[in-house]
Amino acid sequence: MKIALISGITVQDGSYLAELLLDKGYVVHGVKRRASSFNTQRIDHIYQDQHQTPVNFKLHYGDLTDSTNVIRIIQEVQPDEIYNLGAMSHVKVSFDSPEYVANVDGLGTLRILEAVRILGLINKTRIYQASTSELYGGLAENKNEKGMYDENSPFYPRSPYGAAKIYGFWITKNYREAYDMFACNGILFNHESPRRGETFVTRKITMATAAIALGHQDCLYLGNLDAQRDWGHAKDYVEAMWRILQQDVPEDYVIAMGETTYVRDFVRMSFAELGIEIEFKGEGVNEKGYVKACTNSLYQIEIGKQVIAVDPKYFRPTEVDLLIGDPTKSKTQLGWAPQYDLSGLVQEMVAMDVDRVKKDMMLKKAGFRAS
Ligand code: NAP
Ligand code: GDD
Repeated sequence: MKIALISGITVQDGSYLAELLLDKGYVVHGVKRRASSFNTQRIDHIYQDQHQTPVNFKLHYGDLTDSTNVIRIIQEVQPDEIYNLGAMSHVKVSFDSPEYVANVDGLGTLRILEAVRILGLINKTRIYQASTSELYGGLAENKNEKGMYDENSPFYPRSPYGAAKIYGFWITKNYREAYDMFACNGILFNHESPRRGETFVTRKITMATAAIALGHQDCLYLGNLDAQRDWGHAKDYVEAMWRILQQDVPEDYVIAMGETTYVRDFVRMSFAELGIEIEFKGEGVNEKGYVKACTNSLYQIEIGKQVIAVDPKYFRPTEVDLLIGDPTKSKTQLGWAPQYDLSGLVQEMVAMDVDRVKKDMMLKKAGFRAS
């Protein structure tokens, strides 16, 4: 039975990856940070009573900033595969905490690689590093002949997050070359799901779509509506992570859908799921979104109501304007074949958020605090 260790298990990617590996018969260990309130909602459904035998899923308290802790956990677990997903991953927040993000996302990667080396596990343990399309920085001149970013496109990070992750990328590659480690980077473009953190733009939009349609929120405030992202489903992307570590030779791979969409169009698609048509008027900070039509009688929303506005507080000091990835290598070499397209993703996210808002409304009515 293979043993996997996942850092960053509590949120989107970690929870889907844990499910995938458990399905494949792995014993899964996860690193979770101590928090003063519960933060395991996304993995509670797979948590086992630790007195059961066998225990296939185990959590360890830990933090990527603490090298003694990283060494101890790896020593105890003796993993066949490590998936380093732990990170302070919010690009905008990284401008507020640049030193912290360098420590966790940059040095945290080094701590894992070095722990594997110190413990003499180089020939046993394979390492997946969660690299990112933020490394490209969205520079138009760096795209390939197909107008996309691929494994050979130059990097130009545009945030403290991107700069920290570029260290993670190169130190992973360096340990592979210097010590013959099976250490790989997955350069993943944006991937989303109903488990996406609530402050990333897609989830913020689908949550607000549900709340506005059900009369629980008036207006959604967003930042740059002109940004374009290559969005896929996290469930498909964790499958790619696993495939990367099953190859004969360690290499780096771009994981992407090969299509890009404006934030503004994601808003339109999200509301359209509920039969609500949004029309945008104005430009820049004065751009606003209005309800143009509603064809679903379940939602009593006023035609002409303003539901979207721009708040400059969400702008970033330096923005990545456009991301689009070329998945040719991952499709041909890994045999990776995503099951979701963007409309399937939006459909699933909106449906889950509608259910959640309805549940919250019922709880509130019954006198309980909503989630
Ligand atoms: P996420 O929702 O932000 O989750 C990050 C995870 O890292 C959480 O479990 C978090 O734990 C943990 N973490 C944060 N600081 C830590 C620390 N100091 N020590 C240990 N763990 C820590 O991220 P995600 O979207 O699932 O993405 C997973 C990874 O892929 C991240 O490394 C991200 O940078 C990278 N990535 C994501 C995307 C994407 O579009 N989702 C694309 C490319 C790369 P808490 O619950 O305690 O906060
Ligand atoms: N978060 C957020 N909130 N973003 C907004 C908003 C808003 O209100 N309004 C517009 N945006 C724009 C951002 O400026 C950005 O251009 C785009 O929407 C996507 O923002 P996020 O969803 O925060 O994701 P990201 O692209 O910055 O970063 C995510 O993807 C990276 C891979 O490319 C994160 O998951 C990173 O960790 C990941 O590496």
